[in-house]
Amino acid sequence: MTDADATVAMPRRPFGTGGPPVGVLGFGSAEIGFLETGQETVDRLIGGLVEAGCNLLDTAAMYRGSEAALGAALASLGRQRGRGRDEIVVVSKCGPPPGREGLDPWSAESIRLSIERSLERLGIERLDAILLHSCDLATLEKGEAIGAIVEAREAGLVAKAGYSGDNEAALFAVRHPEIEVLETSLSLADQANLAEVLPAAAARGIAVMVKRPMANAAWRRNEDQEGMYSKYAAPYHERLATMSLDPAAFGIDGPAEIAWPELALRFVLSFSAVSTALVGSSKPARVAANAAIAAKGPLPEETVSAIRDAFDQACADESWPGLT
Ligand SMILES: NC(=O)c1ccc[n+]([C@@H]2O[C@H](COP(=O)([O-])OP(=O)(O)OC[C@H]3O[C@@H](n4cnc5c(N)ncnc54)[C@H](OP(=O)(O)O)[C@@H]3O)[C@@H](O)[C@H]2O)c1
Repeated sequence: MTDADATVAMPRRPFGTGGPPVGVLGFGSAEIGFLETGQETVDRLIGGLVEAGCNLLDTAAMYRGSEAALGAALASLGRQRGRGRDEIVVVSKCGPPPGREGLDPWSAESIRLSIERSLERLGIERLDAILLHSCDLATLEKGEAIGAIVEAREAGLVAKAGYSGDNEAALFAVRHPEIEVLETSLSLADQANLAEVLPAAAARGIAVMVKRPMANAAWRRNEDQEGMYSKYAAPYHERLATMSLDPAAFGIDGPAEIAWPELALRFVLSFSAVSTALVGSSKPARVAANAAIAAKGPLPEETVSAIRDAFDQACADESWPGLT
């Protein structure tokens, strides 16, 4: 018996027009980096994900030890399970390079260095996508940063060029002819990108990876969040409390730690523009639970409408933008 129960079939969706099919449950590796999860646990997480039919890993140059840990886990997959690198879609992000704070992170030179270092840490020769990590609209408009990732694509270092961010910058990115992948926030507590960003991405056949799909488990008490996540998840706690959602009202019964993840993940997967939801966790046991939720598919249309209404009503008097 592995950590993941491989009896559930993982639904797959295209990773953008012409892209490989990816499991709707992807893996977000910020948490394993920021919480410094041990390598043995990371190996079990990645092994469990692959056994459950997941094939997309998201990381970033700035997630501390995340890239190196994923690199070691990929090597271990090959050695111990005979699974090839070509079975996994690996996405990373470039941006402010730790230790090189004096450099402009969005210069062509910084981006080239960041990509080279990501490849080295991951132990691979080519990334399936590289994303500009949350640069602002003015940086996108300037063109140098997008030009640098296009150059990396032309040099064969990355397969696709993309952007990670929200709101007006994300909208600019998905309308840009060179951008093929978007990573953006979408959850019960973060719905701003549904209005324009997702439809514009769908219109161009862009691969959409959803970050923070579990709303950082904001149904928990804030003091139960680990490390930096207590501060990071706080705005989602406030939003969820204002929205007064209750999974049982939508026919999803059971204890909070079972019902909320189902409502959260199935809400995100209810949007056909979404290729994959990048769920973060440092606990191998989550894989089987989340794979089983993903296999249940989208929520009924009336449930999705009710959740969207709850969001719109809760922020009727103030703006709730997409949170990066
Ligand atoms: N580009 C960016 O700026 C950016 C920003 C944020 C995130 N991201 C990407 O998106 C990924 C996900 O974001 P995130 O980790 O911040 O938020 P998230 O996936 O919305 O939430 C992660 C939280 O959900 C909990 N969780 C997961 N499955 C669960 C389950 N079945 N039952 C109960 N709790 C469960 C985890 O708890 P446990 O640890 O207890 O399992 C963790 O605390 C990141 O890892 C990263 O790849 C990118």
